[in-house]
Amino acid sequence: MDSLETLRALALAQVEQAPSLEALEAARVALLGKKGSISGLMTSLGAMAPEERKEAGARFNVLKDEVAQALSARKTQLEAGALDERLARETVDVTLPIRPERQGRIHPISQVMEEIVTIFAQMGFVVAEGPDIEDDFHNFTALNIPPEHPARQMHDTFYFDERPDGTRHLLRTHTSPVQIRTMLSSAPPIRIIAPGRTYRCDSDMTHTPMFHQVEGLVIDKSTHMGHLKGCLTEFVRAFFQVDDVPVRFRPSFFPFTEPSAEVDIGCSREGGELKIGKGKGWLEILGCGMVHPNVLKSCNIDPEIYQGFAFGVGVERVAMLKYGIPDLRTFFDADIRWLEHYGFQPGDVPTQSGGLSR
Ligand code: PHE
Repeated sequence: MDSLETLRALALAQVEQAPSLEALEAARVALLGKKGSISGLMTSLGAMAPEERKEAGARFNVLKDEVAQALSARKTQLEAGALDERLARETVDVTLPIRPERQGRIHPISQVMEEIVTIFAQMGFVVAEGPDIEDDFHNFTALNIPPEHPARQMHDTFYFDERPDGTRHLLRTHTSPVQIRTMLSSAPPIRIIAPGRTYRCDSDMTHTPMFHQVEGLVIDKSTHMGHLKGCLTEFVRAFFQVDDVPVRFRPSFFPFTEPSAEVDIGCSREGGELKIGKGKGWLEILGCGMVHPNVLKSCNIDPEIYQGFAFGVGVERVAMLKYGIPDLRTFFDADIRWLEHYGFQPGDVPTQSGGLSR
């Protein structure tokens, strides 16, 4: 009995006074490890008479639990100490200028997404996100694209292997599933912008299997087509920084909007140089429309009370137009010289007041 008390006192002292995580681990091995002193006690039970064994076993177990608890408490304490010490040691003076040789570049995709988000944030939109791996319901069905709808073929979808329950996950073909996720998880009024990656099984001069979109969604009681036009016209002018750029809404079709439109901006191509602004030409830059009542219904929103608009902007496309980047595929070549040329200074964060870009 006495020896058990002594062992207990020694063990707890060793644990509680362990000066480091390494010392604590050594103590753990010495006490509870395979050949540890407490494990040794357990082994000694075998040689005892049944009555004695029962009583001693219970006491040994109490001791074992107590030591295990002390170990974990000391571990937490030492880890917190180590973190505090590291935080104190690894301070960085964030006011120092960036060293030129260490300076990287912001990729035009990141820059343009940031610019788009900045413009819409100014209008009161909040950022929403969804997963790259989607299911059929969010990517298609809830967007008024039922299983046999021809629009499914247009999307060149990357599918995953079938699951035991017969469903197949997929890489989202557009950011529109974020509309569904947002409407299912929050009540109107809704005003979101959702930047993200999208995927289609397509690769040529003007298509890459992975690309980026920014989705927008507004749902309220009296939101109408006039709001859509005003909002997107405002966006286009702010984004291209051309105040009088002509904007045209051309009738189009998407299963999830009705009516649907594509937005074109004016341009001129004089002397082989593409210029955004007044001119003879038009460039298509985004798709939009009033949210289809079936989409609202899929999200348990009453189309008799609520309505709204949605749009999707292709990030690579507007980046190429705004910054004169001629070849889509160069975006994903990871060529450092390309990035030095087309990339942006890390410190130049787009703001409405300070300017979107240099
Ligand atoms: N999801 C459409 C596409 O990828 C774009 C779009 C979004 C159109 C929202 C209308 C409304 O082509």
